[in-house]
Amino acid sequence: MSESKWNPQQYDRFRDERRQPFFDLMALVERAGNMRVVDLGCGTGELTSVLHTQLAARETIGIDSSETMLAKSASFTSAGLRFEIGDVADYRAAEPVDLLFSNAALHWVDDHPALLARLTASIAHGGQLAVQIPANHDHASHRVAAEVAQGEPFRTELRGYVRRSSVLSPERYSELLDELGYARQHVRLQVYAHYLPSRDEVVEWTKGTLLVAYQQRLSAETFARFVEHYRARLLPQLAETRPYLYPFKRILFWGRRNARM
Ligand SMILES: C[S@@+](CC[C@H](N)C(=O)[O-])C[C@H]1O[C@@H](n2cnc3c(N)ncnc32)[C@H](O)[C@@H]1O
Repeated sequence: MSESKWNPQQYDRFRDERRQPFFDLMALVERAGNMRVVDLGCGTGELTSVLHTQLAARETIGIDSSETMLAKSASFTSAGLRFEIGDVADYRAAEPVDLLFSNAALHWVDDHPALLARLTASIAHGGQLAVQIPANHDHASHRVAAEVAQGEPFRTELRGYVRRSSVLSPERYSELLDELGYARQHVRLQVYAHYLPSRDEVVEWTKGTLLVAYQQRLSAETFARFVEHYRARLLPQLAETRPYLYPFKRILFWGRRNARM
């Protein structure tokens, strides 16, 4: 869709709906004074700054592996709030924190049982873990990307790479929280009804998230062809309504570690 077709009202609504899961996740956190907080995969830091202020945290550290995303975080730095470059896949806190928070980032990391075990070691006894991850991998928008990646010429340039979801079922997260010693937990699957101006916008949506995995592995020219193939195969599978309802599943989970050893 051309820039001129953007409807600012729809765009704002689109932005709000992407932010809503963050607020829903933050609502699961039990407030306490003076918390030490880490936000994993913090992105630009805009929402980390909201988290820091809303929780009145003593200290909040935003961690992200992307220099480009973190470049914007400087403007959000404030008393007690700072940002560091780091990879969630091998993250360990220097000292245990009161809240480990992660909104829409952990699905980029493999092996969630091992990841959650490692992250738990960075949470103080009695501390909290709060995570939101997209779980829309069975929607056509995600299935078609995997199909295109397996066809030529992409398969060769991608060396067989296909983005597979590392996200588990909600009940598996419940079991993991229990196994890892979380005394209390809340796990839910939530469907967010994203109203996009048209089905074409689904391509714009995934270009900002899922398709990045392919963009990083393809030349600019081949990626442009990838998106063309993706669009041609995906759109006939989506309803031609305006606005287009893009139902988007997300898993939100929260746990509080047992205070005892
Ligand atoms: C969809 S954005 C979410 C950003 C922010 N949490 C928010 O809610 O706006 C996902 C972020 O995860 C980061 N990310 C992906 N894989 C990562 C990893 N292995 N380690 C650290 N950050 C990672 C990306 O750089 C990106 O900034």
